[in-house]
Amino acid sequence: MKNLSSLAILSLLALTLPLAIASDPSPLQDFCIGVNNPSNALFVNGKFCKDPKLSGLDKSRSTESSPVGSNVTTVNVDQIPGLNTLGISLVRIDYGVNGQNPPHTHPRATEILLVQEGTLLVGFFSSSPDNRLFNKTLNKGDVFVFPEGLIHFQVNIGKQPAVALAALNSQNPGVIVISNTLFWSSPPIDPNVLAKSFQLDPKVIMDLQKKIG
Ligand SMILES: *[C@@H]1O[C@H](CO)[C@@H](O)[C@H](O)[C@H]1NC(C)=O
Ligand SMILES: *[C@@H]1O[C@H](CO)[C@@H](O)[C@H](O)[C@H]1NC(C)=O
Repeated sequence: MKNLSSLAILSLLALTLPLAIASDPSPLQDFCIGVNNPSNALFVNGKFCKDPKLSGLDKSRSTESSPVGSNVTTVNVDQIPGLNTLGISLVRIDYGVNGQNPPHTHPRATEILLVQEGTLLVGFFSSSPDNRLFNKTLNKGDVFVFPEGLIHFQVNIGKQPAVALAALNSQNPGVIVISNTLFWSSPPIDPNVLAKSFQLDPKVIMDLQKKIG
């Protein structure tokens, strides 16, 4: 009797197994951005997938050649194509002693920043008419949020180099560095426009425009 029922189960398996094999295997991942050229790709199942991994964010970056004393390493859709449509990206920021990440804005993302090493003074401005400055000193392990589109900055106020990691809710947040855009645009804006805007002598604006190209 026992043997008979085992036999029945075996025959049932024999009947259903070919059906299971005839269909597609279940996916082993939530997504696989398929590529035709397998170099720099991973084979998971079915197709080669774009590699979602990037290493080296633990390595410190040189800040010496930067006029503002910082170095921003981006990890966005340009470095990891698999971020396409996922609405997220990352940056590592290295700050030399007295270095800063100058006032800038991301047109497409809010940013959450974590201090990994050192002490940073960070801040952002609300929009007009208040233009209110919110600032705070952050130590290792502290987190701060810069709301989407608002101008913000970080300054290393410690005696050592500092490091921060920041996540942004866009695959390509974009960045507008206020000084670069206004004073070092290409082609340059008529200095009289900025002179009126900043209530300065046009000569001061022309000096600024000559500083970096
Ligand atoms: C950032 O760091 C990398 C690696 O150390 C270096 O090659 C690059 O020139 C640095 N960029 C700036 C702006 O200092
Ligand atoms: C930070 O804000 C305080 C006022 O809350 C101000 O006195 C100080 O100068 C600010 N720091 C910077 C670097 O803007």
